[in-house]
Amino acid sequence: MRLRWSGGVLLSVAAAYYVYTPLPSTVSEPWKLILLDALFRSFIHAGDAAQALGVCHSVHMLNSVVSRLEVIEPWSSPTVSVTDSALGGVPARVFQPVGGGAKLRRGVLYFHGGGWALGSGRMRSYDLLCRRMAEELDTVVVSVDYRLAPDAVFPDQYHDALAASRAFLSPEVLQRYGVNPARVGVSGDSSGGNLAAAVAQRISADDSMSVKFSIQALIYPVLQALDLNTPSYQQNHNVPILHRHLMARFWLIYLGADPSLLPHLLSSPSSLLHPSIPPSIRSHLNWTSLLAAKHQKHYRPVGMETGSREVTGIVPGLVDVRAAPLLAEQGILGRTPRAYVMTCEFDVLRDDGLMYARRLQDAGVTVTSVHYDDGFHGCMVFSFWPFWSSVGQRSLDNYIQWLDHNL
Ligand SMILES: *[C@@H]1O[C@H](CO)[C@@H](O)[C@H](O)[C@H]1NC(C)=O
Repeated sequence: MRLRWSGGVLLSVAAAYYVYTPLPSTVSEPWKLILLDALFRSFIHAGDAAQALGVCHSVHMLNSVVSRLEVIEPWSSPTVSVTDSALGGVPARVFQPVGGGAKLRRGVLYFHGGGWALGSGRMRSYDLLCRRMAEELDTVVVSVDYRLAPDAVFPDQYHDALAASRAFLSPEVLQRYGVNPARVGVSGDSSGGNLAAAVAQRISADDSMSVKFSIQALIYPVLQALDLNTPSYQQNHNVPILHRHLMARFWLIYLGADPSLLPHLLSSPSSLLHPSIPPSIRSHLNWTSLLAAKHQKHYRPVGMETGSREVTGIVPGLVDVRAAPLLAEQGILGRTPRAYVMTCEFDVLRDDGLMYARRLQDAGVTVTSVHYDDGFHGCMVFSFWPFWSSVGQRSLDNYIQWLDHNL
């Protein structure tokens, strides 16, 4: 009896220890975030265990859990018709408002997040998001299921995003869905924001395309991997749900790099001090000049550690603008459309977004930069029960309102 009791106490303590992560007190609804993080971490640990046992790649395991729990069949409501289709050969879910006769509508191409490795536009959370956009904005929304790592690695995801974009902007497809060519936007969250920013750059610079995106809406986008020591990476390295080492893992998987490079990527000095990176590139992510003082806080570039190895030579994707849109030249940025950049204080990617907003502005682009002081990575999409958060709702409302006024 005594033994069972102490076993129970021990287990509860262990469970509490596993679940509990110290959080900044100003984050929106910390307990929900702690639970979400515990759930996410337990999936990742299960995936790692499966991989260690040789059962399957950890990402495959995670995705099979996600598809079993989260992927839903397309269902149409009286107001939005939903079908699974393809765009430029890439699978996509299409959300079309019902009725309205022959009038042309606005269009949004959406890329889901998940570290280029997880998730799907057919997941409940993304289905709900796109459904709501289609309904409230009376807009055709296409959610793209680009290929995922590790089966596909950079530049496959980028090429899928580009193929879907070119197809969506083609006269035939615009006509098929009744979309106004002057009012088509591209959007995405997290790694989907990375793809949205990258294709926006490419399409804007392509003189052979007559129809281009008129807006880009980037939700806590990931935009570079050269500096994993920006103030937001330093401040939030252990903040759920996107811990710094997890983001570094996603980068290596996406770039098809050897996972054993993880410690090198994490211990590499701030790009600002990286002797091997040319000053022209360094200036594009120089947070000591691009970030406002209130975001730099007391943080300093992390210096050279003894033994830190040169990773840019081994992983060329790190300096490729198609993978890291923040590295683009000003002339390229200046041709991209009006932008919405959403960032969260408790997110390692905060400074990626803030620096991009600043660089777009410097290049002459009209930018709405919206920052949530109580926001955390993923909050806008985790807006369903039980992870509903006030900041998630506010950010979603603001995003939809911005689209309504600007698209
Ligand atoms: C970054 O910006 C600071 C402040 O403007 C400047 O002193 C420094 O030389 C810059 N570093 C690089 C690598 O561009």
